Amino acid sequence: MASTGGAEVLVASNRGPVSYTADENGSLHAKRGGGGLVSGLSAIGPEANAVWVCAALGDGDREAVRRADGGLLPGEDTGGQRVRMLDIDAAVHADAYNGIANSVLWFVHHMLYQTPLEPVFDAEFRRQWASYETYNRAFAEALAEEAGEGAAVLVQDYHLCLVPGLLRELRPDLRIGHFSHTPWAPPDYFRLLPDDIAAALLRGMLGADRAAFLTWRWAEAFEACCETVLGPDALVGTAIGVHGLGADADFLRERSHRPDVEERMAALREEIGEGRRTVVRVDRTELSKNIVRGLLAYRQLLDERPEWRERVVHVAFAYPSRQDLAVYRDYTAEVQRVAEAINSRYGTAGWTPVVLHVKDDFARSLAAYRLADVALVNPIRDGMNLVAKEIPVVSDQGCALVLSREAGAYEELRTDAFGVNPYDVLETARALHEALSLRPEERADRTKGLAAAATALPPAQWFLEQLEALQELGEPQSS
Ligand code: G6P
Repeated sequence: MASTGGAEVLVASNRGPVSYTADENGSLHAKRGGGGLVSGLSAIGPEANAVWVCAALGDGDREAVRRADGGLLPGEDTGGQRVRMLDIDAAVHADAYNGIANSVLWFVHHMLYQTPLEPVFDAEFRRQWASYETYNRAFAEALAEEAGEGAAVLVQDYHLCLVPGLLRELRPDLRIGHFSHTPWAPPDYFRLLPDDIAAALLRGMLGADRAAFLTWRWAEAFEACCETVLGPDALVGTAIGVHGLGADADFLRERSHRPDVEERMAALREEIGEGRRTVVRVDRTELSKNIVRGLLAYRQLLDERPEWRERVVHVAFAYPSRQDLAVYRDYTAEVQRVAEAINSRYGTAGWTPVVLHVKDDFARSLAAYRLADVALVNPIRDGMNLVAKEIPVVSDQGCALVLSREAGAYEELRTDAFGVNPYDVLETARALHEALSLRPEERADRTKGLAAAATALPPAQWFLEQLEALQELGEPQSS
């Protein structure tokens, strides 16, 4: 039996705050996720009457839902939070998540298509779109069941663009917010989508009382898309907001000094070698993160500035992501190929120029953060990029930041970062050189500035501000 509830605050996202794996005896093990949303929601405390609605993402999750009889998951697994996981048909979820969300909407907003050949909107796309609608409807129905009268609902991201509109029809009494964690494409690019699909996505989001973004740049692009696709009055009835998510300094500082991180620092120091500088990057192996051009820039640095050979190591962590998609698997292989080529071209008996790790390890990421002299964050396009904010907060000796001008974080960090055009490998190589060459006092000053800007809006405040902004809007939109 699905539970019915009177929750006052609801969060909806594809990936929830907990995931399950089954061991060989059939016992389920819960793992808590991280990220801004998880710490943000915990800010309202376990006594708050909140429910998080998310999708079951694997066999372990599906089994957990079966054992919970379709209702809320056990609180001890979820850190006390009430979580309702939706057991959406696996094929429908795959179409919606891999097909529409990750292969179409993600590509549109990050402008990743190689347009002479892609995209092709064919019958297969239409079939996947029908699944995206079904998947969004499942969320809207679950939220409508769980929400108390006049509750606030915070819907997350491009997976769930249709939810606000569908939920508004089911429950006109609710206050609905939508938050985009990605960039938003400008109208000329957004209109690659078939007209009816572009309109459906925007209308779905405009079902919210408030649509919010990480920067004004993305918010303004959304407004421009609404006006271009739907007409000049499209935005009437929906407020637009901006909340730039910051690093969780208290958590990071505490977590990065635990023994498991210290152990990994010792191991990394071995790999790096005595007295060398480090250029650190930590990403999911994600097409938009631009890892290959980062490696090419580093190769350029070694090529044109031989004085850095033997004296610097590029510590690159590129963790698996969305491996169901062939294009992501190919990209991972390309990252490995380019890193190996640099090592065989420049490496010596005692020096490995690129230390690449592809197995996810959070403690090791924090160890690299602490050892960073330079952080390299060069995405093609990025909603915010929290790594750019986290490394300066955690690094032991302070670090310089080479940052893409196309990351949302650039708006907040530009004063103290070395801004680069992510496509310009020569400019990025020059920026790496300057960043590595900073005098200690200047580096310390810049790190201070970066850390202050990076922690200006911690996750708890980010979440509460959104909730308050929604509640302050007063009566919900009339439908
Ligand atoms: C990044 C993006 C989010 C997105 C998430 C999905 O963190 O910034 O906008 O929701 O990826 O990742 P997933 O691994 O669930 O596909």
